[in-house]
Amino acid sequence: MKNLYKLDHIYKTYKNYDTDYHALEDVSLELSEGEIIVVLGPSGSGKSTMLNLLSGIDSPSKGHILFEDIRVDQMKASELTEYRANNLGFIFQSYNLIPSLTVKENIELGKELSTAPLSVKDLIKQVGLESHASKYPYQLSGGQMQRVAIARALVKNPKVLFCDEPTGALDEETGKKVLELLQDMNGKYHTTMIIVTHNPSIADMAHTVIRMNSGKIVEIKHNKTIKKASELRWA
Ligand SMILES: Nc1ncnc2c1ncn2[C@@H]1O[C@H](COP(=O)(O)OP(=O)(O)OP(=O)(O)O)[C@@H](O)[C@H]1O
Ligand SMILES: [Mg+2]
Repeated sequence: MKNLYKLDHIYKTYKNYDTDYHALEDVSLELSEGEIIVVLGPSGSGKSTMLNLLSGIDSPSKGHILFEDIRVDQMKASELTEYRANNLGFIFQSYNLIPSLTVKENIELGKELSTAPLSVKDLIKQVGLESHASKYPYQLSGGQMQRVAIARALVKNPKVLFCDEPTGALDEETGKKVLELLQDMNGKYHTTMIIVTHNPSIADMAHTVIRMNSGKIVEIKHNKTIKKASELRWA
């Protein structure tokens, strides 16, 4: 499969008085296009830091980051903006919807800056919100709000979708529905999905599982069999 990201001996170092603290320490990694990648690890192990480096929100203290053979760590602010606008989508544990906009309007926001957006109408259908399109966020359940957030992130048809704890605020049934949707969208649009989670069950639906501890990658596993999200056991 085609390589999408390459991390080459990455460090993210913070100064704490006169000692160095490595949020990431010598991390090397290659990620393939079109995969579901699950990143597991205890709190403070460097998961969000790694996501922030991949998405160019933060820059490494040392090492190279390549996206399709282009150095993300050397991009200027304007290039980073363009890189994110053209290629990346984000969803978070707290859905980050605009309360004064309807479901449809929230999703339309995701089209901003996009050159080839998907149809908002089709997406609303695919995420199962047809009968909720003119509702406001406060009228929705957590799972419904997360589905709006997913549609908003996918409407520009990004190459990569970054998901930081996408099911953290959801119960098992709702969480699995959200993961099913992500899995469907990965199949349909071939979107690379990088999912950070504390829930080890989610690893069973990944093509690749990355385990982190204390700023290091301790294991990279490529699953031979991939479970459907609906069949996951829940931790
Ligand atoms: N701006 C900063 N200054 C100093 N230390 C930082 C900074 N940002 C992150 N860190 C430290 O880097 C380490 C990794 O943080 P990170 O947010 O990547 O962890 P995480 O694996 O995402 O944790 P969680 O599961 O709790 O979200 C933590 O020990 C954190 O305190
Ligand atoms: Mg985090």
